[in-house]
Amino acid sequence: MSGLIDQFGRTAVDLRVSLTDRCNLRCTYCMPEEGLQWLAKDTLLTDAEIVRLVRIAVTLLGVREVRFTGGEPLLRPGLVGIVQECAALEPRPELSLTTNGIGLQRVAPALAAAGLDRINVSLDTLDPVVFRELTRRDRHADVLAGLAAAEAAGLTPVKVNAVLMRGRNEHEAAPLLAWCLERGYELRFIEQMPLDAQHGWDRAQMVTAAEILGQLRTAFELTPEPSSARGAAPAERWLVNGGPARVGVIASVTRPFCRACDRTRLTADGQVRNCLFATEETDLRSALRSGATDAAVARLWQAAMWGKKPGAGIDDPSFLQPTRPMSAIGG
Ligand code: GTP
Ligand code: 5AD
Ligand code: SF4
Repeated sequence: MSGLIDQFGRTAVDLRVSLTDRCNLRCTYCMPEEGLQWLAKDTLLTDAEIVRLVRIAVTLLGVREVRFTGGEPLLRPGLVGIVQECAALEPRPELSLTTNGIGLQRVAPALAAAGLDRINVSLDTLDPVVFRELTRRDRHADVLAGLAAAEAAGLTPVKVNAVLMRGRNEHEAAPLLAWCLERGYELRFIEQMPLDAQHGWDRAQMVTAAEILGQLRTAFELTPEPSSARGAAPAERWLVNGGPARVGVIASVTRPFCRACDRTRLTADGQVRNCLFATEETDLRSALRSGATDAAVARLWQAAMWGKKPGAGIDDPSFLQPTRPMSAIGG
């Protein structure tokens, strides 16, 4: 069986699995204060169903990397067991996790022991007061403790994701980088994307990659990393002060990387999304629950990826934000 290829010659080898749509923060660029209508429990994949789908992806469809996302994936009770079972697959996929860091202090050693390879943590500000404004929760210290625990557990390289918001943390690029450099974390800035549940994204307000690089250059010397090192990663990277330390910018809006995209996504309720911005999904949960064989599920997944559009199309006049918000896709 061939892999997850699309009509534009791309092959998906990187699977992002959302383990829950729930979250313990309320980042303003993601969801409203009151939270969202969460997915109904009986629609969520069980731990065994998740592991089965990852096994199909890895053994039949050529997936090599699996990243667990949310909402907040640390809220999934069975997380450590899921990681452990995925780490036992042959060929063994690379396993990573993207988290807001809350609770990581407690669980990082168990995740490392279960076979998790590395971790990305979201941290948008060094200021606890700004953190509370941005996330509507007073949990800054928990995130910093989580980061330190991930590093100590060897879940490295630890990457830090930061979104800059106009009028809130827009001047924190250089201080965040200095802080991450001191601790050996790889910082990446992400342009804010039109994926918030409130549909409040405004391109004119977005802090752009060019602006972020301009800020960084007032304090650091940046030289582009050789482009061969990027592969299909969304982050473009720069060596800081000659290297080896690096900083990344994920310019999904102003410099989309769709042509090199190697991703496929699975939502917590068992839908394949062939793109972060897809407007259609393919229902693998129903297939699993009506007794489909592994080969039949794999064929459905292949068909889902074949229909992948050439790009996110944020700049197209006909662009429509997907109905499923970022927190239920997993980023
Ligand atoms: P590594 O570089 O492998 O560590 O992972 P990553 O940067 O892909 O993962 P992470 O979950 O930390 O995502 C960082 C940001 O990149 C998030 O805002 C994601 O939404 C964004 N991102 C990840 N994959 C895609 C993609 O396929 N398209 C777009 N536009 N953005 C993506
Ligand atoms: N645009 C860009 N990044 C976002 N994230 C969440 N919502 C958005 C958005 N609308 C980031 C989180 C996390 C990563 C998975 O995606 O901050 O770091
Ligand atoms: Fe939670 Fe992530 Fe959304 Fe923030 S961006 S509310 S941490 S899902």
